[in-house]
Amino acid sequence: MKLTLKIWRQKGPNDKGHMATYPIDNIDGDMSFLEMLDILNEELIVKGDDPIAFDHDCREGICGACSLYINGEAHGPDRAVTTCQLHMRKFSDGETIYIEPWRAKAFPVIKDLVVDRSAFDRIIAAGGFVSVNTSGNTVDANAIPIPKADADAAFEAATCIGCGACVASCVNSSAMLFVSAKVSQFAFLPQGQVEAKERVMNMVNMMDEEGFGNCSNTGACEVECPKEITLSSIAKMNREYLKAVVSK
Ligand code: SF4
Ligand code: FES
Repeated sequence: MKLTLKIWRQKGPNDKGHMATYPIDNIDGDMSFLEMLDILNEELIVKGDDPIAFDHDCREGICGACSLYINGEAHGPDRAVTTCQLHMRKFSDGETIYIEPWRAKAFPVIKDLVVDRSAFDRIIAAGGFVSVNTSGNTVDANAIPIPKADADAAFEAATCIGCGACVASCVNSSAMLFVSAKVSQFAFLPQGQVEAKERVMNMVNMMDEEGFGNCSNTGACEVECPKEITLSSIAKMNREYLKAVVSK
């Protein structure tokens, strides 16, 4: 496959940035999108040019590090996959592919295609955990019966990998899908009830402080989410938030 890549280059957070054009040849349809970028980077290094900075770690859809806006879609044209799981056979020979970083005020660009997503870490630190008694007298979690439907719902929410595609695809750069998944994974379980009110209040407050926008109900986040987290998570979080406010 012969392709033309239009890639966002930005030397650092304060650089204005620009789109640069790179022709690339001999791309196999079975290559992953990141392998294609690896090949481009090898060519750039051989030429003495600065390779393109992009984020990646597991390369199997688990870590959420790979975060590229490809042809105007978070994680590219395929559904329910991350950029690292995207194959080049989804593109046609001769195609021009536009590759950009996530665009959101709360995710500033560090370099080229790498953005700073530490805002998500701060939201998790504000409440995305269950405090555990480590005295040695803790009841085994498996000893608490949980209805299958609740366990399944909690598991579905817990599949969120914190990639940020929901933010990048939202017209308001809202983080509601991410935060709602992280709230819901505990809200469905008895272990999550003790700190439920503080958790939802603190996480939503931190989300606002970090500069994410409000949910506009367009549903773009749900479409682009590689883990198929649904808008019902947001409804669940809103109910949890209302309960916390009313009982204050
Ligand atoms: S909700 Fe989906 S799109 Fe948003 S961070 Fe989690 S996995 Fe990524
Ligand atoms: S590199 Fe880990 S999800 Fe893509």
